[in-house]
Amino acid sequence: MVNIELRRFAPSEAEALADFLSGEVWPFHGAGRVDRADVLRRAAEGYYENDEARTFWIFLESRRAGMVRLFDLGDDTPLFDLRVSEACRGRGVGTQAVRWLTSYVFTELPGVGRIEGTTRRDNAAMRTVFRRCGFVKEGHFRQGWPDADGVLRDAVAYAVLRRDWETGTVTPVEFDDEP
Ligand SMILES: CC(C)(COP(=O)(O)OP(=O)(O)OC[C@H]1O[C@@H](n2cnc3c(N)ncnc32)[C@H](O)[C@@H]1OP(=O)(O)O)[C@@H](O)C(=O)NCCC(=O)NCCS
Repeated sequence: MVNIELRRFAPSEAEALADFLSGEVWPFHGAGRVDRADVLRRAAEGYYENDEARTFWIFLESRRAGMVRLFDLGDDTPLFDLRVSEACRGRGVGTQAVRWLTSYVFTELPGVGRIEGTTRRDNAAMRTVFRRCGFVKEGHFRQGWPDADGVLRDAVAYAVLRRDWETGTVTPVEFDDEP
């Protein structure tokens, strides 16, 4: 099992975050490219750290391998944005990070009963990570995700229940419930 360490992002690290996000291509995120200046502006506005959002670096072998931003933390169902640098993918970093954030949110926020994540249908790696971490597919949104060329792709939504996390079970969705 790969050994990662999660460290809270500090506002003084905005430049490093801007370098990290603008230094990679993110094919499953909107336009794919992140504008460095946008990251700095958002950081200054508190987008990464505020009452409802917390951001963490993912360190692998003492180097920054990724980041995760938890948001909507004041809601019943928080969401997250997870990004692992291309050089570090496929080694279990994403899986460990989602296990960590699940435990973190359910431990830190006793009122939260579920955590949700959405991705593009063809993001096979993220879907594998979701399933491995006890998340269950709950939603499929046809043409719900415009890609960088404006082509409408399908989106899929997964969630994990606190109850399942506590008991190590996976509650299935009752999809076939049409009257
Ligand atoms: C999605 C992401 C976070 C996964 O992180 P990761 O560290 O690569 O994840 P893991 O190594 O824990 O697991 C990924 C699994 O998906 C598999 N996988 C990767 N690409 C795949 C593909 N194209 N098709 C099928 N499986 C794939 C990997 O082989 C691995 O499974 P394995 O352990 O059986 O080999 C990372 O790829 C990433 O940051 N991608 C770009 C940003 C992104 O899409 N974020 C999610 C947005 S919601």
